[in-house]
Amino acid sequence: MAQQVIAVGTPQTFRVTLARALEVEPEDIGWVTSVTAAEEMLVEADEPAHVLVLSPEVKEPDALGLAEFVGRAAPMTAIVLVRDKSWNGLLPAAMRAGIRDVVDLTQGSEELRDAVERAIIWAENLRSLRGAMAAKPAHRGMVISVFSSKGGTGKTFLTTNLAVAIARQTGQDTAVVDLDVDMGDVYSYFGLEPFHQIDELIRLGEGADREQVYEAGTKVDDHLWAFGAVPDPAVQPPPGEAVGKYLRALRNNFAYVVVDASADYTDLALACFDLSDAICLVTGLDIVGVKHLSKALDTLLTIGLPRERFRIVLNRADSKVGLDAADVERVMKIQVDAMVPSSRLVPMSLNKGRPVVIEEPGSEVAQSIIRLAQRFTGAAEGPRGEEGPVPVPEKKKRGWFRRR
Ligand SMILES: Nc1ncnc2c1ncn2[C@@H]1O[C@H](COP(=O)(O)OP(=O)(O)OP(=O)(O)O)[C@@H](O)[C@H]1O
Ligand SMILES: [Mg+2]
Repeated sequence: MAQQVIAVGTPQTFRVTLARALEVEPEDIGWVTSVTAAEEMLVEADEPAHVLVLSPEVKEPDALGLAEFVGRAAPMTAIVLVRDKSWNGLLPAAMRAGIRDVVDLTQGSEELRDAVERAIIWAENLRSLRGAMAAKPAHRGMVISVFSSKGGTGKTFLTTNLAVAIARQTGQDTAVVDLDVDMGDVYSYFGLEPFHQIDELIRLGEGADREQVYEAGTKVDDHLWAFGAVPDPAVQPPPGEAVGKYLRALRNNFAYVVVDASADYTDLALACFDLSDAICLVTGLDIVGVKHLSKALDTLLTIGLPRERFRIVLNRADSKVGLDAADVERVMKIQVDAMVPSSRLVPMSLNKGRPVVIEEPGSEVAQSIIRLAQRFTGAAEGPRGEEGPVPVPEKKKRGWFRRR
């Protein structure tokens, strides 16, 4: 039977605290790491949970955003918010958003048990009155994110070229998204400058229709739209929950969404990972880079992301620096999924504002990315998947790189 009560938010011990309060085993309670993961679960479930219990670590804007989402997408699910300090006078806002109860954990676990039991009864009553749930979206694209906890490893280079390769291989509409809100440079790889503000893009998550979504993007190749904002280190980054909604809006309109995630474990990045079907971790072949990658993988597994979601990409993998893929595989006890060679074509293509996969599709560096793209798109591979250049359909030379 699906779990009726779900603990939402870190640490994982919150689930144990909740189980104790309810006098059940921890396994009787579900657990997801973040509000974005909770929203994802509600969207995917045939029968959504009765109650979501939000840990004290869930931030207030995320809690309110989740409540608003639940009101629309899973109105028979109740939310109970747990705080470990006083609730900053925001109780009316919580109630308006549809949160059923706010529990102060410092008052002991009895209050928590009573609140959750009340919420379960409420949800059961509602279910007996109403039958059908909100329909699931008919269409849902694949989200692929690219992450590295170390700067300058080739994250943006890989994101942009992977997106071009996927759009060309499949002929399906693809979005390439810059979530590096401080210093994003996805647009630079297409010879452009972003012109939207981050808030304008995030607002797409609040029910934008298809036309509004496409209008907010910049067409950078056939079947490929870029989404990015003017980098502004001074601006407050949007809450993770809002970023989750934004990415879901893109996912509902594009067959593939390839995301340049920020270089830190920000709320933005974590929301993005919760929605990602695949997460490419990129490193260069130096000992510091490999250590960073290993730590990043450990951290992301610890917060509950499944191992099979990760792909390991070695960039500049032919550099003669005394480390090779076998060393990385041995040290990290993981399999390397793709190796991208070092090439002068990469900085040259950046300076020209033309991705290498478009400009030099037959080159070794472009081919390595095209093969990685094939693993996501399922496009036919050459013999053994490694031999011979993979053709990329030729495109006319101009016309796509103009600002809208
Ligand atoms: N395979 C490669 N061969 C040669 N140069 C490369 C390769 N990959 C990346 N570079 C160069 O390294 C630099 C950094 O690449 P990129 O901008 O993609 O890194 P990033 O991880 O996005 O960095 P940031 O942390 O600043 O976002 C660029 O100048 C790029 O041209
Ligand atoms: Mg970058």
